[in-house]
Order: sequence, then structure tokens, then C-alpha cells
Amino acid sequence: MKYRALVASESPEGSIVRKIEELEIGDLPANDTLVKVLYSSLNYKDALSASGNRGITRKYPHTPGIDAAGIIVESPDFRAGEEVVVMGYDLGMNTPGGFGQYVRVPSSWVMRKPEGLTLKECMIYGTAGYTAGLSVMKLVENGVNPDSGEILVTGSTGGVGMLALGMLAGAGYEVVAMTGKPESFELLKTIGASAVISRDALDDPGKPLSRGRWAGVVDTAGGEILANALKSAKYGATVTCCGMVAGTDFCSSIFPFILRGVALLGIDAAQSPMDVRKAVWRRLSGEWKPRNLESLHSTCGLEELEGKIMSMLAGRSAGRVVVSLPHQS
Ligand SMILES: NC(=O)c1ccc[n+]([C@@H]2O[C@H](COP(=O)([O-])OP(=O)(O)OC[C@H]3O[C@@H](n4cnc5c(N)ncnc54)[C@H](OP(=O)(O)O)[C@@H]3O)[C@@H](O)[C@H]2O)c1
Repeated sequence: MKYRALVASESPEGSIVRKIEELEIGDLPANDTLVKVLYSSLNYKDALSASGNRGITRKYPHTPGIDAAGIIVESPDFRAGEEVVVMGYDLGMNTPGGFGQYVRVPSSWVMRKPEGLTLKECMIYGTAGYTAGLSVMKLVENGVNPDSGEILVTGSTGGVGMLALGMLAGAGYEVVAMTGKPESFELLKTIGASAVISRDALDDPGKPLSRGRWAGVVDTAGGEILANALKSAKYGATVTCCGMVAGTDFCSSIFPFILRGVALLGIDAAQSPMDVRKAVWRRLSGEWKPRNLESLHSTCGLEELEGKIMSMLAGRSAGRVVVSLPHQS
């Protein structure tokens, strides 16, 4: 039986081209659980995989999509027809992913759809929202609470950033959103930012420490932005680090750590264990669900993904993109 998928392939000249193709379900990897995908979502990692980043995807042709939400067709551990979510592990990296109407994965990668969320809402969150949830959980576990002071969210018009902002603001935190998009200042306030600052506002070259301002930081950017956030974290602050849009290296002195007791905590969504996933998703469907979750996304089909991928790679995208994969019957 055939299905449709967005396939990234290497041209004879070595460049990556993306096309919608008809593929055979029988050619999916020989894993035990077949899922009919109804929704996926676009994450930064997908944009990298779709454009030939070998650190993420070694072999092409390849169907990206690190997120998939749909219905079980066959599985040793789930009933046919159960609504499920598959996220991370190797999905969409070297295992054909959610930009196809079917995925076949090990059942250990599959999670029942959390109660209180629709399949589409799960993909409005997707890996980006789950990562935002993991970051918020780290802050909470490290004792950062709404009375601790201001929380900085960097890359705040991005998927991770916007959802972290929505979750934290909804939970009563005072959140300062950092963005490189002046046109988004008002939007970020609507989502719950108490203040919005420009990306270059943290620059304080040469000084090992700036005025301590942040009780917590959800950093999605890395590079110089993370270095600056560390410098301006206040005494006892927790800084989470998940992203690399501004660079994979950063330079910091030891002073934020030894003079202010700042904690820098890494976030990994892809390999996080199932019990942690379930704990975070329970909160995403309850106390951390932003009241305006629906408004934080746009929906597109496979046909429109090309433009969305290019926009994300150029740093121009805002909010989450849900990919809808309708089936004929
Ligand atoms: N560790 C993990 O498990 C994990 C999981 C998910 C995502 N991530 C990473 O988290 C990051 C964000 O992911 P996402 O899905 O939210 O991506 P996204 O939707 O593309 O958002 C990234 C945002 O970063 C800002 N940005 C873009 N280019 C930048 C640059 N050159 N310098 C500084 N800021 C820049 C932009 O926001 P503003 O214009 O508002 O500043 C952009 O909207 C990515 O690096 C992704 O790989 C990691």
C-alpha cells in the first residue's frame, strides 16, 4: 500500500532537494508498531534534517519529522485505533518520520495521547513544547518559583521560546521575552511577557558579570546569547540550555558559578525517558497549558512545508507549525 511523504534527497550535484513522493508502507523499517500519522509539526531539527545536515541525518533519501501524532494500525503493545504520540528517539533523524502518512517504530517510542489534549494540540506542543516543558520543570525542580523574580526566555518567537513564555506566564511567573523581531513585541506581550527586550540588549562585552537580573533563564539560542544570560543571572539563578540557533560554542568565565551560585542545566528531549515524558505531558495538558495554545500555531499541509522550512532556516518563523496529513478514508 502506498502513502505520501515529503522526501529530502541528494541531487547528482550533491545538493538536497525536497519533493512529495508516493512510497510503499512495506518499505518502512521493520519495527513492531505501525502508526497512521494525522499530524506532525515542524521543529528546527526537522529544518536541519530536511536541508542535509549530516549531524542529524546520515543518509538520504529521507523523510524528516521528529514528531508524529496519529492512530495505531498494528502493535504488540497498543490496540488498533488507539490515539498515540511518537516524538524524538530516532524518529525523523535516521528513521522515516512524521512528514509521511505512516511511520513504523519500536513500541517503546510510542506514548498514549495524554488525556485532556487532542492529537492536534499534542502537535502544537510537539518536541518544541515538550522541550519548553522540560526546561520549566528544571526551573521548578531547582526551586525557581513565581516569587523568585524575573525569568528570561530567549528566542521567544520560536517554538520552544513561545511555549515556554506561555507556560511560565500562565503559571504566574514574571517573564521577560527576548526577540530579534521588533515587530513581535506586542504579540509577545499578548502571550504573557511582562516586558520584551531586543536580542542585542544583553551585550556587555568585556565584563565577566553584569547586573544580576534573572532568577531563571530558558535559553533556546546558545552562543553569545547564553553567555550573556549567564552573566546577568542573579544570585542562585537556574539557567537551562537547549538550543543552538545563535551558535554551538559559548564563552563564559567561572564567575556566574562561583560568585553567584548560578546553575546551568542541559535539556535533551530526544532521549528523555518515558516516565519523564509522561510527567511533563501531564503538566502540559493541565496546569502549564497556555490559555492561548491554539493561537500559537499555524497549520499547513505537506505542500506548504517547503516555504515554512526555508523561513525557519532564515530565522524568520514565529510560533509553531502543525503539519496536517489527511488520509482518503
Ligand atoms: N535540546 C533539545 O532537546 C531540543 C529540543 C527542541 C529544540 N531544540 C533546539 O532549540 C532551538 C529552538 O528550537 P525551535 O524549534 O524553537 O526553533 P525555531 O522555532 O526556529 O525558533 C528559534 C528562534 O530563535 C531565534 N533565532 C533565530 N536565529 C537566531 C540567531 N541567529 N541568533 C539568535 N536567535 C535566533 C528566533 O527568535 P527571535 O527572533 O524571537 O529571537 C527564532 O524564532 C533550536 O536550536 C533547536 O535545535 C533543542
